[in-house]
Amino acid sequence: MNINFSNDFIDEGFFGSVFCIKNNRVIKLFKLPETKKDEERYEKVFTSEVEAYEAIQSDSELKAITPKFFGTVKVCNVLDNEKNDLTSKYKTNCAYIMSYEKGNFIKIKSPLVPKEEFNRIKKLFEKYGVEYIDDASVILDENRKIKMVIDFAMKYYEAWY
Ligand SMILES: Nc1ncnc2c1ncn2[C@@H]1O[C@H](COP(=O)(O)OP(=O)(O)O)[C@@H](O)[C@H]1O
Ligand SMILES: [Mg+2]
Repeated sequence: MNINFSNDFIDEGFFGSVFCIKNNRVIKLFKLPETKKDEERYEKVFTSEVEAYEAIQSDSELKAITPKFFGTVKVCNVLDNEKNDLTSKYKTNCAYIMSYEKGNFIKIKSPLVPKEEFNRIKKLFEKYGVEYIDDASVILDENRKIKMVIDFAMKYYEAWY
């Protein structure tokens, strides 16, 4: 898989950058942090997110409010339009593919998200051992119900510093 940074970049978070690819799918590609210790943490976070997606696939309610999960992928190259090679900024073996979800993502901990909605979603994920949703982002519907959730993991990995 090759990525064109200039054309495909959608958004980024703390750990990863998200790029659009064909068929209405996106890749979440983890960044390469500066230190070896951080790199280990990023790998754990990546694995924990993938495990979380795998864990919920038997649940129709959770599947309906999370992107479709298409598994992990190895990224070969990240180039921009000027052919600058940005590949070394990323952990090319830490990437997964999911469906592109259109909408306004807000942090699940934002005051705009009703507490009871947070609690409802938390319980759903907990059934499958997905314990870390505090950093997730969500799309709300017109009744302020959560209709989409991204960025969840089996557990939280603390920074070493
Ligand atoms: N499936 C998706 N569809 C559309 N946009 C997405 C999707 N996944 C992530 N994004 C966008 O990318 C941003 C960063 O993704 P996120 O998983 O939160 O990364 P991080 O773990 O680095 O915080 C999100 O805030 C959102 O805007
Ligand atoms: Mg995030």
